[in-house]
Amino acid sequence: MLTIVLATQKGGSGKSTLAIGLALAAKQAGQTVRLVDTDPQATLMNWQTRRGRAEPLVEAVHDAAAIEPRLEALRASGVTVAIIDTAGGVSAATTAAIRYADLCLIPARPSAADIEATSSTLSVARAWRKPFAFVLNQTPIRGARITNAATTLADEAALELADVLAQPFIVMRNDHQDALAAGLAVTEYAPGGKSAAEIGDLWRWTEAKLTGRPLADEVVDEQTESPFPIIFVEQPVQAEKPVIRLASLRDSGPNWDACL
Ligand SMILES: Nc1ncnc2c1ncn2[C@@H]1O[C@H](COP(=O)(O)OP(=O)(O)OP(=O)(O)O)[C@@H](O)[C@H]1O
Ligand SMILES: [Mg+2]
Repeated sequence: MLTIVLATQKGGSGKSTLAIGLALAAKQAGQTVRLVDTDPQATLMNWQTRRGRAEPLVEAVHDAAAIEPRLEALRASGVTVAIIDTAGGVSAATTAAIRYADLCLIPARPSAADIEATSSTLSVARAWRKPFAFVLNQTPIRGARITNAATTLADEAALELADVLAQPFIVMRNDHQDALAAGLAVTEYAPGGKSAAEIGDLWRWTEAKLTGRPLADEVVDEQTESPFPIIFVEQPVQAEKPVIRLASLRDSGPNWDACL
């Protein structure tokens, strides 16, 4: 069983939204999925109430000591992917969730406050020697704000960008909010939309990171020696600043202001 935890101290960065999105994308890829809600705010449990008893089911586990046995029970029952949502702030339950995870995904909006707030989660992931990756969420479609956030996160982790940044970044779009309000995930709410495509790609990236399998659309040539399809493109106008282009990014879509 693959266990993924969504964690960051900062509230509102997208832990619950990404947990739900990834859970449905994994289910649609053939996995048997359970969501585990460790947040007393109960965003996932409330989502399930709106949804009805449809897969993937959500289980509430608030006691840190109950997380490991619960995960063992899920594994024994044939679950192949468990996705744990955590509360903002720092808590024993979040620390335990990271301890028993195979991968810690740390969402951050491209803002200084969100990026600063990732450091405590990063410390816990490192203390348990857990693989981790940042997920840039609620981003504009393109622009220097994304590039700057990505490089700041890599600097904070003191690692190469390709090793710490999940792909693609997730653009801010109303589909995410409308899907959750309807008790759906974005891949169910607007299956042909750009948000669904990004979340599907994020699941494929996550699965590849967990299993070590290469991505199907991975392009390895002399421009990219990294294990993930990040290509640095020198911009003639802003030659002093290399622009990071994520190969799986869908470039078109509603403009940033229209998304707000
Ligand atoms: N990519 C996105 N585009 C648009 N809205 C988004 C996106 N991601 C999250 N949101 C919205 O931002 C708000 C906060 O997201 P979410 O509840 O997932 O954050 P959280 O990290 O779980 O917060 P908390 O720490 O309070 O649990 C929600 O209203 C959600 O619908
Ligand atoms: Mg939440």
